Amino acid sequence: MAMATNAPAAAPAALVRAEKVEKWFGNHQVLRGVDLSVERGKVTSIIGPSGSGKSTFLRCINQLETYQAGRIYVGDALIGYEETRGGKLVPLNNRRIVAQRRRIGMVFQQFNLFWHMTVLENIIEAPVMVLGQPRQQAERRALELLERVGLAEKANAFPSKLSGGQQQRAAIARALAMDPELMLFDEPTSALDPETTGEVLTVIAELAKSGMTMIIVTHEMSFARQVSDRVMLMENGAVDYEGPPEQFFGEQPSARLKAFLSTIH
Ligand SMILES: Nc1ncnc2c1ncn2[C@@H]1O[C@H](COP(=O)(O)OP(=O)(O)OP(=O)(O)O)[C@@H](O)[C@H]1O
Ligand SMILES: [Mg+2]
Repeated sequence: MAMATNAPAAAPAALVRAEKVEKWFGNHQVLRGVDLSVERGKVTSIIGPSGSGKSTFLRCINQLETYQAGRIYVGDALIGYEETRGGKLVPLNNRRIVAQRRRIGMVFQQFNLFWHMTVLENIIEAPVMVLGQPRQQAERRALELLERVGLAEKANAFPSKLSGGQQQRAAIARALAMDPELMLFDEPTSALDPETTGEVLTVIAELAKSGMTMIIVTHEMSFARQVSDRVMLMENGAVDYEGPPEQFFGEQPSARLKAFLSTIH
């Protein structure tokens, strides 16, 4: 018979845990001990001045960059390294890094679509080639995703025939086709016209509502306020503030925050 336990309810599980992450480019330290925890199903927006390390931090999370100290966990996986019993970090080989990266979707400022492929081909490429999904199954799923981002009628178009906003929505569908457990966005709307920015933000907001765990680097303050569970302000490679958006954007923002907000209005 199962025994009753008096164990306390489990604390909400963090999907992403970054602890004291440090990164240098040569002698230049660009991350100076960054901590961040993102619970499953939650959204953190990262804001901060140009050059503060926002992109570098995102890129460390999916190993487009290596970090030199600290730790980043996504789920149970220590990203980029294996820890020996003695606590030493040994870099993972490329095959294992690729396997870790597969669980993380990333959307960039520049849409990075394959120009010689249709939208549908762009979306099924990785599921078929990397995950070995049957083509028909991948196409069915791709069409569902295109429906979800409002692009069903563009399945057979080439990216060059789409607006920037449509290209970015196709790039989001392509990332989702790998069924990521985490989505990273690096200024997904900053290359877009104001008219198409809204349609991309709507897709991202819907993704947030659907329970996707996300980290979003953005300069869109009202969007960040509306969509985020937490906001992080980075400055000079360090975390200046991390907490709920109400407090962040609220009645009495810190002098530091006011100074930053005044630079972007
Ligand atoms: N590949 C690289 N080699 C050398 N230095 C780099 C490299 N990539 C970024 N840096 C430096 O690291 C620092 C942080 O850059 P990062 O791109 O992470 O900033 P950011 O906060 O994303 O800025 P922005 O808002 O302009 O995108 C900057 O000083 C930048 O010059
Ligand atoms: Mg950047």
